[in-house]
Amino acid sequence: MAAKKLIVANWKMNKTAKEAASFITDFKKLVFNENPNEIVICPAFICLNESKKLLKGAKISLGAQNMHFEEKGAFTGEISASMIKDAGCKYVILGHSERRNYFSESNELINKKVKTALKNGLKVILCIGESLRQRENSETMNIIQNQIDNCLKTVGGEGIRNVIIAYEPVWAIGTGKNATPEQAEEAHQHIRKILAELYNAIVSKDTRIIYGGSVNADNSKELFSMENIDGALIGGDSFVV
Ligand code: PGA
Repeated sequence: MAAKKLIVANWKMNKTAKEAASFITDFKKLVFNENPNEIVICPAFICLNESKKLLKGAKISLGAQNMHFEEKGAFTGEISASMIKDAGCKYVILGHSERRNYFSESNELINKKVKTALKNGLKVILCIGESLRQRENSETMNIIQNQIDNCLKTVGGEGIRNVIIAYEPVWAIGTGKNATPEQAEEAHQHIRKILAELYNAIVSKDTRIIYGGSVNADNSKELFSMENIDGALIGGDSFVV
């Protein structure tokens, strides 16, 4: 449970390079001197290079929203770990529910991506979370267990140190319906228990577990007051001016 909160902005498919540059120019003025949290901005791939230049010297890191699991090759339209690293990324979001749902990404595929990202020195923000139907069927904890077991398969004690888990209940993403702090805390506690079983008590305590799903300026304070919520992955509210 880190003292500093990790705040990750997932811009999804929003902002042209020009719009991203203008946002970052204004935003970094706000956080340049006073920044009690760790901030990561994840713009579209095409905005990374310019963002990297603009963020030079600022205490804000850059992340990508996805990557391919192969190092390179004939994968038209894809981007590799070394490419995003070269474009300035320290982090990469993997396993986002939009990738799972719209692009059929399985836990097995995500596991391959996690391992390639770690091999390339990237920090992984691994998204997990249940659908509304799964929550209503009381399957939340099993789904979380299954996603962690499979997405982190053969990720060892060294690798896990560079993994951040983002608990994002699918029903809360982009819906304006966030999990209550108690619901999120319950899931985060369960994730710590799983990590303790898979790794050890130190990993369980040290791994950052952030919450995502309709986080905004109004509800973040209450969410952050929970013992096991180490930050947030924010979509819609992270790129409005
Ligand atoms: P949201 O998205 O904040 O718009 O709900 C979160 C996410 O998709 O990571």
